[in-house]
Amino acid sequence: MKALQITDNPKEKIKINEIPIPNASENEVLVRLTAAALNRRDQWIREDKYPNIKPYTTLGSDGCGIVEQVGSEADKDWIGKKVIINPNIGWGSNPKVQSPHYQILGMPTNGTFAEYVVVKTDRIHLKPEHLTDEQASALPLGGLTAYRAVFNYGEISEGDNVLISGVGGGVATLALQFALVAKANVYITSGDNDKIQQAIQIGAIAGANYKESNWNKDLLEKSKGFHLVIDSAGGKGFSDFIRMMKPAGRIIFYGATQGLPTTLDLYRAFYYQIKIQGSTMGNDQEFVDMVRLVDTNKILPIIDNVKPFSDIINAFDEIKSGKQFGKIVIKF
Ligand SMILES: NC(=O)c1ccc[n+]([C@@H]2O[C@H](COP(=O)([O-])OP(=O)(O)OC[C@H]3O[C@@H](n4cnc5c(N)ncnc54)[C@H](OP(=O)(O)O)[C@@H]3O)[C@@H](O)[C@H]2O)c1
Repeated sequence: MKALQITDNPKEKIKINEIPIPNASENEVLVRLTAAALNRRDQWIREDKYPNIKPYTTLGSDGCGIVEQVGSEADKDWIGKKVIINPNIGWGSNPKVQSPHYQILGMPTNGTFAEYVVVKTDRIHLKPEHLTDEQASALPLGGLTAYRAVFNYGEISEGDNVLISGVGGGVATLALQFALVAKANVYITSGDNDKIQQAIQIGAIAGANYKESNWNKDLLEKSKGFHLVIDSAGGKGFSDFIRMMKPAGRIIFYGATQGLPTTLDLYRAFYYQIKIQGSTMGNDQEFVDMVRLVDTNKILPIIDNVKPFSDIINAFDEIKSGKQFGKIVIKF
């Protein structure tokens, strides 16, 4: 089968290799992938900016496909079923935080950028029927991350003013959709004015371009302050959020693409009882809850474009360029 692997080739770093189709052992299933989606994480791994990189691992955390083989007789009813895969491996027993043994599918275990993948049977879930395979593949990692940030840590309520930064991102577009389902007043930022307009068409109230110096004043004036901010950029702009919060507001961040903030107004943060909470992926129950939310509300993950597997290296380059609005999906 063909599989996109991390190699020691210094130029591209990734390559489509021909490798044997794996077999499902006990409590495992073999899934023939029909679609897979990229995450920023895949490009971070390509750039060597991720821990425990193991050469000749097949990348990819998100996938949708058909179960073709089971390793245990008890799982035989799964054969032929269309499924999505929970990319969590070994979250552990504490629902609040992952265990020290936690891994994400697609490094160091072989992932979904291949014609077949083997996963534990308890990682697969029936594909929501209203989604195409491409839409379903766009959901797992981003949906789980957005769900924990928006609902469990964000404690979103109807009527809350919510700011989602960098709305073009794969996780951020899902966070936007989840916050709209929760009937929040959603504001967004982006570095691209077209993406701001796209988000407004979906239901955001207003947006600002974080590349412009007065973006924070604009949004503060329009919103009169935020109950909740969802961010993955970090960097210099992170400090501005503290000044934009309502008392007892929550800033939830699941990434730091722009690095560390230069300052943080801790005086204001403690006086106004502002919560600054890191968040990463989510536990297995949150995965189930997220899929149910998407199913019940017939949410359609936003896809920027779909490419054939043969074009996957260009998909990585696009993720790096950051021009996309939503997810980039690979079709097998
Ligand atoms: N902790 C976790 O579990 C977890 C899970 C998923 C992702 N992440 C991390 O979260 C980040 C986003 O992941 P992703 O997969 O959604 O990536 P992505 O699809 O590549 O999106 C990244 C987005 O960041 C936004 N951005 C760039 N510079 C910004 C700035 N200065 N201020 C605000 N936004 C800015 C851009 O938004 P615009 O295009 O709108 O400008 C861009 O679309 C990455 O760092 C990733 O590693 C963490």
